Amino acid sequence: MNKRSTKTVSASPRVRTSSPEPSRTSAPEAVFLVGFMGAGKSSVGAALGRRLNWIFEDLDDRIERRERRTVAQIFRESGEPAFRRAESSALHDVLEGIHNQARVVALGGGAFVQAANAELLRSSGVPIIFLDAPVEELWERCCKQASEAAAERPLLRSLDQFRELHEKRRPCYSEASLTIQTGGRSVDEIADEIAAKLGLKMLDQSSKEGDVE
Ligand code: S3P
Repeated sequence: MNKRSTKTVSASPRVRTSSPEPSRTSAPEAVFLVGFMGAGKSSVGAALGRRLNWIFEDLDDRIERRERRTVAQIFRESGEPAFRRAESSALHDVLEGIHNQARVVALGGGAFVQAANAELLRSSGVPIIFLDAPVEELWERCCKQASEAAAERPLLRSLDQFRELHEKRRPCYSEASLTIQTGGRSVDEIADEIAAKLGLKMLDQSSKEGDVE
């Protein structure tokens, strides 16, 4: 699955009953997508945004605009801790405007696993959707993207390291409000399922103002 395009991704969603979100009286007007590299966060997010006429934004894009460097450059020139600081600042920005316009936000694979970010996200009351898939499939999607030169991922090294990081992070992702299995399913199918599960409301085209800040 390409980081910035459409693909395929199987299976039955499951809604967590533990860690409930803060109570809400109306349908949500924002959604965060989390999961490991190759989970399809950007492609599913873009499809969901199109389906609902909501703004779609990728947190990595916001980081790149703020830093005037690509994610890969930030890792290379300043190291991962600097990237994580930039990521947290960008997330604060997103959260400040989260109730202004309906939007779907795809987070980079490491964002939700930082405890402070997770706390901030949970306290926003916005649903957090974990896009899950077997690690082998995630690896294959990332390798395919890399060979198509669509996305440079600083943390895409060997399969062993990929597996190890995935195993370490998966319990954090599982703290999301909703988990959807994506293996072998189409992006549109997954987007439809998220919209149905959360009761997300489509906006009139005219209500979708501007673009991401
Ligand atoms: C990262 C995932 C990347 C990007 C950065 C770090 C991670 O985003 O934020 O390279 O720590 O897993 P994707 O998950 O969209 O590839």
